[in-house]
Amino acid sequence: MKHKTSEMMSMLDQNHVMKYMDELSADEQKEFIDQIDSLDLSVLSADATEEKRGEFSPLFATTLTEIDEKREKFKKIGIQAIQEGKVGAVLLAGGQGSRLGFDKPKGTFNIGVDKELYIFECLINNLMEVVKEAHTWVPLFIMTSVDNKKDTIDFFREHNYFGYSEDNVWFFAQEQLPTVDTNGKLMLSGKGTIATAPNGNGGWYASMEKTGMLKILRDIRVKWLNVFAVDNVLQRIADPCFIGAVIDSGKVSGAKVVAKADPDEKVGVLCLEDGKPSIVEYYEMTEEMRTRREPNGLLSYNYGVILNYLFRVDKLNQTLKVKLPLHRAFKKIKYLNDDGILVSPEEPNAYKFETLALDMVKLQDNCLAYEVDRTKEFAPVKNKTGVDSVDSARELLKMNGVEI
Ligand code: UTP
Repeated sequence: MKHKTSEMMSMLDQNHVMKYMDELSADEQKEFIDQIDSLDLSVLSADATEEKRGEFSPLFATTLTEIDEKREKFKKIGIQAIQEGKVGAVLLAGGQGSRLGFDKPKGTFNIGVDKELYIFECLINNLMEVVKEAHTWVPLFIMTSVDNKKDTIDFFREHNYFGYSEDNVWFFAQEQLPTVDTNGKLMLSGKGTIATAPNGNGGWYASMEKTGMLKILRDIRVKWLNVFAVDNVLQRIADPCFIGAVIDSGKVSGAKVVAKADPDEKVGVLCLEDGKPSIVEYYEMTEEMRTRREPNGLLSYNYGVILNYLFRVDKLNQTLKVKLPLHRAFKKIKYLNDDGILVSPEEPNAYKFETLALDMVKLQDNCLAYEVDRTKEFAPVKNKTGVDSVDSARELLKMNGVEI
């Protein structure tokens, strides 16, 4: 067994990870070999991360004005779907929040100034508004990483779920993938442990299947899932108007989008790729795409995604058979140095491999781009200061009348 693993690692030119094998007890050796066997080592091949893009064309959004005109109608449809128990929410909270430099789950960060106000609390408060309006709980699934699952659950318990109904909350952990240094070499995080990282926010549906959450979805007959990021403290969750607009459009998915602040804003833009809904990253856009305008003066590629999507569950089931593209992200990853000492790097030092939720949009037949006002619904907490930071999110919370 030990020999076979060693041979495999040699073949992959990764035998250095076996360095401390003889120092490990029999149990530790077994655990190490089990970990290696369970890891998806295909990420080590360069082709794993190559993605060829198709032909892009613009996708126009249902604008704020159009939504305002039909608000009552959309809301009615959305509230009805929620009351019929057809809508669930999935909170993506498995990220490492390395830019924020906060060691605990990002949702447990206190964004308050004069009082305690945690990121998870902001999200639950927002969801509670819908609960009050619809007079029913919305099933909430919270994805964590393997490492932050216990802290997340403990935090919710300690805070009494911020008034949410515990019976309507489920936690599940996403999977991990190996990380590599800049030479493509696996790293150790212990003498008998390969350094791994959560496999990106695109893994949520497959992880829901593996952890038994899809069975719960089927049992409680959820038909639509609203998926959203933990770090937007103004995030509107299970927004009845958004849900109603998507249902009314007859489309199988929806994405909340914001109009770009300027052509060069660094956001992924919702568009069509080979006729299918897709997201083009800012660095993939040509100058022509960035600056092109429609006759009405609006940018042709105008609508940035904010990681708030609505998917029809029956259509998601089909995506389980597809392998999502892997993206490499350069991050700070703890590793054992040559002297066997665990190092917590100050700067990014290694690559993690991620699938992205936005790639699930591409697997949908169509998608309603639903415009929201960024000053009311988009306050991401990515950095400590500056753009998309604790400071900017605090300002936006205040602007929206939230006491902080
Ligand atoms: P980000 O792309 O901002 O990544 O996540 P991050 O790991 O949280 O932060 P940085 O880049 O290290 O600073 C966007 C959303 O996707 C979730 C995050 O929790 C956040 O809600 N996410 C990200 C996951 O759930 N799992 C992952 O593996 C990565």
